Amino acid sequence: MKNLTPEDKNRIDELKNHLQERKNHLLGYPVTLNFDYSLLYKFLQYPVNNAGDPFYMDGSHHMNTHSIEREVIHFFANLLKAPENNYWGYVTNGSSEGNLYALYLAKRLYPGGVVYFSEESHYSIEKNIDILGLNYQKVKSQPHGEIDYKDFEEKILLHQDQPAIIIANIGTTFKEAKDDIKPIQDILGKCKVKKILYPL
Ligand SMILES: Cc1ncc(COP(=O)(O)O)c(C=O)c1O
Repeated sequence: MKNLTPEDKNRIDELKNHLQERKNHLLGYPVTLNFDYSLLYKFLQYPVNNAGDPFYMDGSHHMNTHSIEREVIHFFANLLKAPENNYWGYVTNGSSEGNLYALYLAKRLYPGGVVYFSEESHYSIEKNIDILGLNYQKVKSQPHGEIDYKDFEEKILLHQDQPAIIIANIGTTFKEAKDDIKPIQDILGKCKVKKILYPL
């Protein structure tokens, strides 16, 4: 920052002013304005890098926060009732990468599986399906954003003999709709979808 020209400094100021001005017109949707990251500002002076596996790789770069990353994973493992001492994970750079990694694991576990997701699912799902070259069925949504279970059943019936990879939303981006796991499980049972699990 020290070597910046007056023009560069000016551009940075302009960006700051632009964001400040836009903030005054933001209702807080679909992101929140209710945060205060000021406690974290001091960390911007360090080249922190969490590359690698937070559980197995210490590596030579010690400027990381792997121990905190593991704490985050323990928190979510507990929330999701993961089997004790038998889970793994990492903190992604955002939800798009989270969706990508989840679909990647599903692809490894269920080769030849079909991904079912609703019209209201975030667009990163469709993009990641394309990146991974997966088969899919896009299911209709109800007007309030929840998946349409009747259409889901019809789509499932088209691929009964293939493993089903289900994207169930827990708060869609635009309507905060939630897909109910119970009817989804009932439909899978009723349609006798094959459960073929491959070792990773
Ligand atoms: C449900 C959902 N998935 C994925 C994303 C993409 O998130 P990111 O920008 O962190 O990749 C969003 C962003 O709004 C989202 O609402």
